Amino acid sequence: MRIDIITVLPELLKSPFEASILKRAIEAGLVDIHFHNLRDYTTDKYKSIDDTQFGGGAGMVMMVEPIDKCISALKAKRHYDEVIYMTPDGETLNQGIANQLSLKENIIILCGHYKGVDQRVRDHFITKEISIGDYVLSGGELGAAVLCDAVIRLIPGVLGNETSALTDSFQDNLLAPPIYTKPRDYKGMKVPELLFSGNFPKIEKWREEQAYKRTKERRPDLLDE
Ligand code: ADE
Repeated sequence: MRIDIITVLPELLKSPFEASILKRAIEAGLVDIHFHNLRDYTTDKYKSIDDTQFGGGAGMVMMVEPIDKCISALKAKRHYDEVIYMTPDGETLNQGIANQLSLKENIIILCGHYKGVDQRVRDHFITKEISIGDYVLSGGELGAAVLCDAVIRLIPGVLGNETSALTDSFQDNLLAPPIYTKPRDYKGMKVPELLFSGNFPKIEKWREEQAYKRTKERRPDLLDE
């Protein structure tokens, strides 16, 4: 998979890709990440990427031309399955969206700033708009990092244990059950006896019940979907 990220702040985005699972995925050649600085696609000497709003109003708007130039340059080289715009008024990211995107070959992610982008960008260049939650960030970069992390860990071979992504919270609209490791008894805080029984069908059933109970208590909305 190849991900091209268009941003005015590449330095804000780089570190998540330089550590842990994302770094390993890149080194293993399972994903290819490219950063594009929008200012490299400007034509004036000030490298302007934004301007004031037509019709008046506070806040700057990202201009269509540098974005068009950058996206068109990328599209001239390969086909893109999605051109995603990170924005608080997009579709809220969930596990289903992450699953779908993990199957794509090439995607572009555009990070917004200021008040956002000229509507013509959204109407003519963007195929999907994603929000990472109902709050406003100062730019799309942190949202893009969250999206990339959620997607990349699903690519086969990225996680050590192939089955572990499938048992994550949300994969079946259920939260994950409680988990335990050594020691068996810590200052009197004990691990449920059943987990030492060796009765794996029974353990599996217990995990399912616990997942259901936790979901019902914490996120009953997930059970309605
Ligand atoms: N840019 C600003 N706020 C955002 C959000 N909540 N999700 C995605 N991109 C954003």
